[in-house]
Amino acid sequence: MLPEAENDLICHTGPGTPMGEALRRYWLPCLLITDLPENDGEPVRVKILGEELIAFRDTDGKVGLINERCPHRGASLFFGINQECGIMCIYHGWKFDVNGDCVDMPSDLPGSIFKDKVHINSYPCIESAGMVWTYMGPIDKKPAEPDLIFNRLPVNQVIATRVPVYCNYVQSIEGNIDPSHLGTLHRRIVDWTLETDDTDRPGTPSPNLRSYILAKYPYSEIQVQDTAYGFRVMGIRPTDAGNRHIRITTHVMPVCSMIGSPGRAGGAFIIVPVDDENCMRFFVRHNPDRPFSNPERESTLAENMMMDPTNPKIRLKRADNDYMLDRRVQKTTILAGITPNAEQDYAVTESMGPIYDRSHEHLYAADGGIIRFRQIMVSAAKGIREGIDPPGLDPSIPFHLIRSEETIVKADDDPWLAGADAGESAKPGERIW
Ligand code: FES
Ligand SMILES: [Fe+2]
Repeated sequence: MLPEAENDLICHTGPGTPMGEALRRYWLPCLLITDLPENDGEPVRVKILGEELIAFRDTDGKVGLINERCPHRGASLFFGINQECGIMCIYHGWKFDVNGDCVDMPSDLPGSIFKDKVHINSYPCIESAGMVWTYMGPIDKKPAEPDLIFNRLPVNQVIATRVPVYCNYVQSIEGNIDPSHLGTLHRRIVDWTLETDDTDRPGTPSPNLRSYILAKYPYSEIQVQDTAYGFRVMGIRPTDAGNRHIRITTHVMPVCSMIGSPGRAGGAFIIVPVDDENCMRFFVRHNPDRPFSNPERESTLAENMMMDPTNPKIRLKRADNDYMLDRRVQKTTILAGITPNAEQDYAVTESMGPIYDRSHEHLYAADGGIIRFRQIMVSAAKGIREGIDPPGLDPSIPFHLIRSEETIVKADDDPWLAGADAGESAKPGERIW
């Protein structure tokens, strides 16, 4: 459980809140690059950390992210005209560039220099890994640009998707660092009838063996290791041949979880608060070895951006249609009765309520990653009040080497040493980087 005061502390992220100020110290994705497809194209509403903003791509291709309300008398710049390196408010014509400077005020008297004194709040943006990222904190604290593995790959080796999740961002993140739900929430009925195979030996398990192990051993021993960028959580399961199956999910502060998966290709979830009762889930797939094929790209987009065809701004499967739960499927095919996997996650995390009250829950051994995440977030929020910078911002951290992992190790191997990649290994409890 988490005391009510600490729950409030980490769940509220609007301007001026401690957690909100801590989150504003990091680059956060706010849009897909494809949301702003052309220069001088349509402006787009963005709500992030409780702030209502407008994004636009100017004549030169630069992305601007500014307050939605015009500083003159508050009209929405969503209705503005985006042309000639700025967005013009349609009420009296005040025009702002991507830096927030007022560059034109045609309704002011000739010769006036009033426009030179007007500025609208604006946030710097960069484009990387298929996403537009913004930094909303104090300019003198702006960290280096995001440099995870997918930030370094060519665009054809990355697929980014974005979907709204209708609950507080902490609930969504807690699902991502919770290895123990795989054997239940995401289980197929057929998984109970699978058989082991010859990949039950040190190395990458086959997809069949992976499903077999998760179904046969629905429990996992959880170990957590602090790192300079956040922490890693490992779920350890036995295998029939006496080895150990390990999954390491890596949490990069503040909101990025690289999900334990076999092989070099992997996926990450980045959960960004919209307001206190909604968040955006960015899912980033990357393949360091080759470009994704068109069918791979299309199936990833279709599966991870399942929007309502009658209103593409909202998800197709949501609480008011019970996520299209099918009780027959639940008995015969998929334990959750809901498809696909991501929708299973939304159903359970949103069912906890818009902001879950953690003061009455009952945590057990499986929740080790969640407990550590909360501790780090509570301390980051408290630290901000005392002028202490939040964790994971040291520029010497080799972010591009951070990996998740899923593999099989021998029973007497140190799973952290044997299972880690790219030099990122250390004994349990030992802090790395
Ligand atoms: S309200 Fe925008 S120019 Fe007047
Ligand atoms: Fe899940």
